[in-house]
Amino acid sequence: MARVYNFSAGPAVLPLEALQEAQADLVDYKGSGMSVMEMSHRGKEYDAIHNEAMSNLKELLGLGDDYEVLFVQGGASMQFAFIPLNFLGAGQTADYINSGSWGAAAIKQAQLVGNVNIVANTQKDIPTRMPNLSEINWTPGAAYSHITTNETIAGTQLKEIPETGSPLIGDMSSDILSRPRDYSKFAMFYAGAQKNLGPSGLAMVAIRKDFAEKGNVTIPTMFRYQTYVEKQSLYNTPPCFGIYMLCLTTRWMKNKGMENLFKLNREKAAKIYEVIDNSDFYRGTALKECRSDMNITFRLPTEELETLFVKQAGENGMKQLKGHRSVGGIRASIYNAFPMAGVDTLVDFMKDFEKRNG
Ligand SMILES: Cc1ncc(COP(=O)(O)O)c(C=O)c1O
Repeated sequence: MARVYNFSAGPAVLPLEALQEAQADLVDYKGSGMSVMEMSHRGKEYDAIHNEAMSNLKELLGLGDDYEVLFVQGGASMQFAFIPLNFLGAGQTADYINSGSWGAAAIKQAQLVGNVNIVANTQKDIPTRMPNLSEINWTPGAAYSHITTNETIAGTQLKEIPETGSPLIGDMSSDILSRPRDYSKFAMFYAGAQKNLGPSGLAMVAIRKDFAEKGNVTIPTMFRYQTYVEKQSLYNTPPCFGIYMLCLTTRWMKNKGMENLFKLNREKAAKIYEVIDNSDFYRGTALKECRSDMNITFRLPTEELETLFVKQAGENGMKQLKGHRSVGGIRASIYNAFPMAGVDTLVDFMKDFEKRNG
């Protein structure tokens, strides 16, 4: 079997053990004679998967019974719309931080629904960065405040969660469960699954029950968080296969141990940043104190060299290193399931490439 080192920003590399178990379950789920994709979502086999996926997440996130974990279709982008539909009423204001492309995408949807106050804006800053907590002017009495904890394209990460006067909502798509976080600071947070949790199309949402209860009751049933809370995300047919993969991935995380994964993530990122910091050839695009442990973005002296870098890395088993099309450059995404051996291979390649082309 030839598995490459897959640096994709998402859908991204999944634990091999999870993929192999899924491979077996795809035709005959644990001797049931049915694929895990063919079973009723009301049956006992699927029920066990669904409940384990939820309880694994609750346990890994350290959430108490005041929170509910939800599974929602439509990826993280659907959340950009659901959040203001649920929580931004007429005459209210929601605070948003525009920290990059994803913060901006969330803002665009909220503005279609109601009044938005952009309380800090670093989207166009070079080097890319997150706002300092001291430069944010929260609106007193805001309906909620929205942040993006990791900007996947800019390669920046909020290291500290801000204190806000209003319920805090976080898009954690690209760094959920990758570092220690106090998740209880959030009234709600969410993540598209396709980076640290499973396949695309599915979003996990964690929401405080008292916050969900405050949601708008005049929107369609499927848009209301309270529907997912009340029906344990089984109001309609859920994305069973995505939730099954999330179950396997979170089980893998539990077996690895979060402290180990956090430590590995720090070490993996530090190794690549060390090459960048010790070189005049590679230039990191993010401000040092804001740079992400998940998406490492850098430039080479010319675009021609970047093209050659991506090409030769690919020939050496390192794939999907091209930066996002909107910004160019190189992006190495190294989520939880990305192996240390792949980082070591990249680091060696970077040093060698610099020697040959620097
Ligand atoms: C931080 C962040 N938020 C939101 C999204 C959008 O996710 P989706 O494609 O699942 O809608 C992405 C996708 O990469 C992302 O990185």
